[in-house]
Amino acid sequence: MLGVWHAQIISIMNINIRKVKKSEYKQTEYLTRETFWNLYQPGCSEHLILHNHRKSKDYVEELDLVLLQGTMIIGHIIAIRAEIVDHNGSTNEALLVGPVSIRQNQQSQGWGTQLINHLIVVAKEMGYSGMLLYGNPDYYRRFGFKNAGDFEITTEDGKNFDAFMALELSKASLNAIKGRFLMNKSIKYSKEELEEFDQKFPQKEKKAPKININA
Ligand SMILES: CC(C)(COP(=O)(O)OP(=O)(O)OC[C@H]1O[C@@H](n2cnc3c(N)ncnc32)[C@H](O)[C@@H]1OP(=O)(O)O)[C@@H](O)C(=O)NCCC(=O)NCCS
Repeated sequence: MLGVWHAQIISIMNINIRKVKKSEYKQTEYLTRETFWNLYQPGCSEHLILHNHRKSKDYVEELDLVLLQGTMIIGHIIAIRAEIVDHNGSTNEALLVGPVSIRQNQQSQGWGTQLINHLIVVAKEMGYSGMLLYGNPDYYRRFGFKNAGDFEITTEDGKNFDAFMALELSKASLNAIKGRFLMNKSIKYSKEELEEFDQKFPQKEKKAPKININA
């Protein structure tokens, strides 16, 4: 159940969060592309990743959410099933979060926070153990995400870095796992695949990214 204050804010602001409809797939890919364009790289790949998530065996329709202001979609978030292989070779299920997008002219008004908190509530209700993501620690720490290394979870090739984060959805649920996150196929794409996919959208100029993630 959503907290009372959370539900009140949502109704006061005429904001509604719900599962995306199939008829909104293209619109949310478009929103994702507009939001990420030239942000972390020239152009972006997040709209293709979203598209591939939806075709993947790991897709969870309950965790593909839109945030509407009135009837207009201003935000979107998705989480898909992820696998963590422990030291015994056993596979444990968690979630991989992202991309998450809030329409550019609606950012920094709390909508991203609403959407992420809502996703966390739904994922907990569904009984998932934890969430992984690649993101800015300054932003995701406020939701309780920590460095994945704190749970002894690494990338597929045994690495940890600041942006690789994890959140437990119940007490010690991730601590009980420990292991390597097997990167979902839907995050992997070739330059050619991205170029071909991008041609389905209006042409946009690629520029130097606004945010340098290696800085
Ligand atoms: C990141 C994003 C989803 C946050 O949603 P939002 O509605 O703008 O954020 P909120 O209003 O809930 O929270 C605002 C806070 O987030 C911070 N913030 C916004 N975008 C951020 C980003 N990309 N990285 C780090 N912090 C960010 C703001 O500085 C603000 O911080 P403060 O509370 O300390 O002042 C949204 O800004 C967005 O779509 N950004 C572009 C795409 C993107 O970067 N997605 C996430 C990839 S990790």
